[in-house]
Amino acid sequence: MGGFAEYVCVREKSLALKPAKMTFEEASTIPQAGVIALQGIRDKGKVLPGQKVLINGAGGCAGVFAVQLSKSYGGEVTAVDSTGKLDFMRSLGADHVIDYTREDFTKNGLQYDFILDVVAHRSVFDYKRALRPNGSYFAVGGSLGTLFPILLLGSWIGRSTGKKIRVLAVRPSLEDMVKVAELCEAGKVHAFIDRRYALSEVPKALRYLGEGRAKGKLVISVGHDA
Ligand SMILES: NC(=O)c1ccc[n+]([C@@H]2O[C@H](COP(=O)([O-])OP(=O)(O)OC[C@H]3O[C@@H](n4cnc5c(N)ncnc54)[C@H](OP(=O)(O)O)[C@@H]3O)[C@@H](O)[C@H]2O)c1
Repeated sequence: MGGFAEYVCVREKSLALKPAKMTFEEASTIPQAGVIALQGIRDKGKVLPGQKVLINGAGGCAGVFAVQLSKSYGGEVTAVDSTGKLDFMRSLGADHVIDYTREDFTKNGLQYDFILDVVAHRSVFDYKRALRPNGSYFAVGGSLGTLFPILLLGSWIGRSTGKKIRVLAVRPSLEDMVKVAELCEAGKVHAFIDRRYALSEVPKALRYLGEGRAKGKLVISVGHDA
């Protein structure tokens, strides 16, 4: 929904000062990914110490923040992503990791208090099975074919089982963006940049992203083009 440019025109009320201790590149990782994770883990998950949390797509942009935030609230975190990202997810603090190319977390008999799913593509019934009684599942991203049934059937499943299955509609929030920046400045959460590219290298960056190899964020460093 966006683009890549040297200049962009936005409303003043959407802007916040860059945290002094962070570089521009680090700060650029926060607005969408950090806010998705905060609204997922803090507001929807309301993660408490000892609760079992699963982040699906944990090695990507939002997942990286979600794993760290869940740990900071005391959750026992299972991070799911592809083979090459397992060590990376452990380094973020994940207690357990699952390689989605080898194991389906909805079919291994384990259950969670809260699941945040960045790449939803299973049926609502699969997600129901992976939840503990009174557990909740929120899809942030995924295919329309998955999100639609969640919207249609999620509340019905909730009424009959006590399990909550929903789509998380992320609100743009300056306050939340600043909150994540403060957590980064305080060293409680870190921005992870896999690679930096110049503006002229955007196609290369998108190719790398598309290959599914990026861990955390790729950053287009506009000021470093020269
Ligand atoms: N709900 C809202 O209001 C809202 C607002 C803004 C954005 N969004 C959505 O939120 C999502 C944000 O995602 P992001 O920026 O964190 O994406 P991302 O950086 O692309 O991360 C997705 C991660 O999921 C992994 N993955 C792919 N297939 C998987 C599978 N089957 N099981 C487990 N992991 C899998 C990817 O790894 P590999 O590539 O190695 O497989 C990647 O590490 C996007 O879908 C965006 O559209 C939603």
